[in-house]
Amino acid sequence: MSKILVTGGTGYIGSHTVVELINEGFEVVIADNLSNSKSGSLDGIEKITGVRPAFEQIDLCDKSKTEALLKKYPDIEAIIHFAAYKAVGESVSQPLKYYHNNLGSLINLLELMQQYSIPNMVFSSSCTVYGQPEKLPVTEDAPVQPATSPYGNTKQISEGIIRDTVAASANINCIALRYFNPVGAHPSALIGELPVGVPNNLVPFITQTAIGIREQLSVFGNDYNTPDGSCIRDYIHVVDLAKAHVVAVRRLVENRNRAKFEMFNLGTGRGVSVLELVHAFEKATGVKLNYKIVGRRSGDTEQVWADTAYANKELGWKAQSTLEETLKSAWDWEVYYKESGGWK
Ligand code: UD1
Repeated sequence: MSKILVTGGTGYIGSHTVVELINEGFEVVIADNLSNSKSGSLDGIEKITGVRPAFEQIDLCDKSKTEALLKKYPDIEAIIHFAAYKAVGESVSQPLKYYHNNLGSLINLLELMQQYSIPNMVFSSSCTVYGQPEKLPVTEDAPVQPATSPYGNTKQISEGIIRDTVAASANINCIALRYFNPVGAHPSALIGELPVGVPNNLVPFITQTAIGIREQLSVFGNDYNTPDGSCIRDYIHVVDLAKAHVVAVRRLVENRNRAKFEMFNLGTGRGVSVLELVHAFEKATGVKLNYKIVGRRSGDTEQVWADTAYANKELGWKAQSTLEETLKSAWDWEVYYKESGGWK
């Protein structure tokens, strides 16, 4: 049984990936500093899978503690590195926090991978590296555009750091997965997205508005050059996304990667506007949403969705869920979380 270190494993995408890894027979060790997640997700993972993964509360910017972790759990075959800050707006006001955390933890891990002969990494990247692509849907070989936020810049720099490290190291392989917009929750509703404070992202803001935590959703702009004037994104069910990580880890562990550094788009291939998504949520849940159109949010990309052909073919993976299923799962999780009293 391969042992996998999942950094950020108590977080939103991390916890869903841990579930899929355990379901597929992997042994998981989670490292997370709980800065943007709660250990309650471990209970959810255990209820779903019957297995409570090993958990270490550490900050990966602390190299000696990270090294101690690797000594405690020898024979790790791959690291899935989710742990990072991800709030675009906060990264603009506190850029050094983002550069320090997102790059420092990655450099520590790569140095320790060299030192302890850990050969494989799956890295959480983002479609933000494409900016506003000239051609849609966007393919993996589209040019990387200047980053529009320090957060986005950390993802671009991270891919560069990995590219250079992999080229210089005989035994390190990496797959970067470029996420489009992960949304939804596990069908059990036992784990899901748990934003701290007011959500920045659309779907948690919608579910919190629908349940009464927020008064009204603001739709940021209806004067874009799109059919209904609102921005277009590619919303992918987090469980579909999680499954792609299992496929990527297998590819690395079984040495089936074609190049030492590969990158794949993880999306559905379908572009959905903000207004379409609002109406799909209402249809999927039967809940009427209080929303109003306001001005554009600064820094927003007008429209982006994935060309998934390369990931579909090379990984043999394809997103399965419909938008309605995805949004219903986000709603079920919001309701469950409220009714169960929430995580400590
Ligand atoms: C952004 C980043 C993405 C990053 C993610 C992490 C880009 C292109 N994407 O995603 O790389 O991983 O943040 O947080 O920079 N919206 C509203 N009202 C709201 C919230 C959002 O109308 O209250 C709209 C936005 O204007 C946007 C869409 O919903 O058009 C999606 O927004 P959001 O969920 O924040 O994701 P991105 O901005 O696409």
